[in-house]
Amino acid sequence: ATAMGARPTTELVAPTAPLPIPGIQLVYGSNMGTAEDFCHQLAESAQRFGIKTDMATLDAWVAHEHDIKKDWVHVFITSTYNGQPPDNAVHAAQWLKGAHDLKGLQYAVFGCGNSQWRTFQQFPKFVDERLDALGAERIANFGFGDADGDIEGDFAAYQAVFWVSLQSHFNVGADEKSAAPHPMFTPVPAQQAESVQVEFVDSQSAIPLRPTAAHTAMTLVANRELLTPVAIPGMDAAAAKSTRHIEIALPTDESATTRYREGDHFEVWPEQSPEDAAAVAVHVGADLDAVFSLKTHPGSSVSAKTAAGAIMAAGTSATVRDALTYFADLTGAPTRAVAELVLTKLGETDAAERVRLQDREALKAFASTYRRTLDAILAAPSVTLAEVLAATAATIPRRYSIASAYESHPDTVHLCVGVVSDGVCSRFLQRAEVGHVLYGAVKPCRDAFHLPDDASVPLIMVGAGTGLAPFLGFVAARRARGAVGGDAHLFYGCRHPMHDDLYHAELTAAVDEGVLTGLHVAYSRDPESKAKYVQHAIEQAAETVVPLLLEKGARLFICGSARGMAKDVFKTLATMVAAHVPDHDGERYLAGLQQAGRYVEDVWG
Ligand code: 2AM
Repeated sequence: ATAMGARPTTELVAPTAPLPIPGIQLVYGSNMGTAEDFCHQLAESAQRFGIKTDMATLDAWVAHEHDIKKDWVHVFITSTYNGQPPDNAVHAAQWLKGAHDLKGLQYAVFGCGNSQWRTFQQFPKFVDERLDALGAERIANFGFGDADGDIEGDFAAYQAVFWVSLQSHFNVGADEKSAAPHPMFTPVPAQQAESVQVEFVDSQSAIPLRPTAAHTAMTLVANRELLTPVAIPGMDAAAAKSTRHIEIALPTDESATTRYREGDHFEVWPEQSPEDAAAVAVHVGADLDAVFSLKTHPGSSVSAKTAAGAIMAAGTSATVRDALTYFADLTGAPTRAVAELVLTKLGETDAAERVRLQDREALKAFASTYRRTLDAILAAPSVTLAEVLAATAATIPRRYSIASAYESHPDTVHLCVGVVSDGVCSRFLQRAEVGHVLYGAVKPCRDAFHLPDDASVPLIMVGAGTGLAPFLGFVAARRARGAVGGDAHLFYGCRHPMHDDLYHAELTAAVDEGVLTGLHVAYSRDPESKAKYVQHAIEQAAETVVPLLLEKGARLFICGSARGMAKDVFKTLATMVAAHVPDHDGERYLAGLQQAGRYVEDVWG
């Protein structure tokens, strides 16, 4: 899924004549750092071409709106989260809706997203359209990357297209008669590989490194299995994984970060297993308790997305154990840098070169041989700790919906975690024992994904699998608030009543108490079930759902895997609305509800 078509097979090439611009302003919106990293990459190539750059978050850029450098080319790179702006672009999203004069500003937009989401590229496209509407001039086509495919490759391709667009826009060195695609380009030497040096230091100076300042040490206080092992016809044993009920004690210092609302998320910092960390340490010949610091080689830079970059950002020295446990993503699929390193060590220089030149197939072939970064590293002869840390991706935290309510559990958060076989964080949580200290943070949900203040507003909650989690929080909060208020219907999809009908007793009790008006469960692997998927259960309850939505001002919440579920529920509801009101465009109607914050999704890929 690339906007640009073929992948470039050569290094970026520099313009033969200087571009007539004072500089390039890079503006990013990023939660996980991808968009920010792409800005750094673009800044590096600009600097190689002798072009000045400046970098700011979208929010910082609008906060200094009087200092906008109108004669600089602006490149906006932003991700999107549920169709919403990233955390550092929330003010910019508001600002862009207003009336501003951006006449004369020349810009390009690159969006980062995951095509598994129905809202793919929604916010980047909004930025692109608003800049255009405010009078700015688009000088390169909208570009985008797909994290469900090869987002790094998409951006590499975009960079090439961006520079060509810039050249032709400014007519630099252009030979109008030439048939060659971009005659104004000449090759520049390949970028020097990122590299760092490890210096072991006196072990007395060991200071435990915490992953980030934003994550706090907390204790795991409960961890139990929620699935019942049962043989279901047509479902193999491997498909029945594990789903954990986890409870984590929040720090008691009443700090704002530990206060949460139903519908909020909890971010967990995953840890590599002690066995995996030890295996790498042995392989690189380092003592787990040895303390080291990292230095960059002169003239090279370290990406914040590598383990080395993350360690350098976190502190001055680390133990080998902390570095490998908290910072190096050993479980994830090997990155391009890991593949290049390992293939080089194995003497497979052709394959290493193809990987370096962004050959998608070469990386795929590597990843099918070595599924995890760890497997690849252990296969490479004579790798050093420095090489491993420079090539391996930095660990990133994972978010889970909170399954409890502050009103009833102010000191703990409950999570309901589906264990994914390659999932670094769910596997960590699966094995973590009661008493284990982990790093976590409450992440407030910006969307309207929480109970309405007005208790009389009816609720329609739709969850599949562990997408049930936030609704356990909703139910608990409604119960704790006492006054039950408007109708509340919960649609829940799972596989079999004997296997994964999670929290069944609690939910039926909620119906008995009147906290829930209706509990509608769809069992996808039970031939006896009236409904297969949640959308079928919703269809069967059309007489209840449609009036609630159209006439009673209900709020609808959807949570679960975006792989199909949210899209299918949307389609089903659109058809139901259209059938109920002749001449109603169901999809437009639902889009209106979304705009009004009455149809809210919390979905993941
Ligand atoms: P499955 O048995 O076909 O996997 C949680 O994962 C539940 O959501 C499962 O019962 C799963 O059914 C179901 N599910 C899978 N795809 C879905 C879709 N497109 N719409 C609704 N539910 C879906």
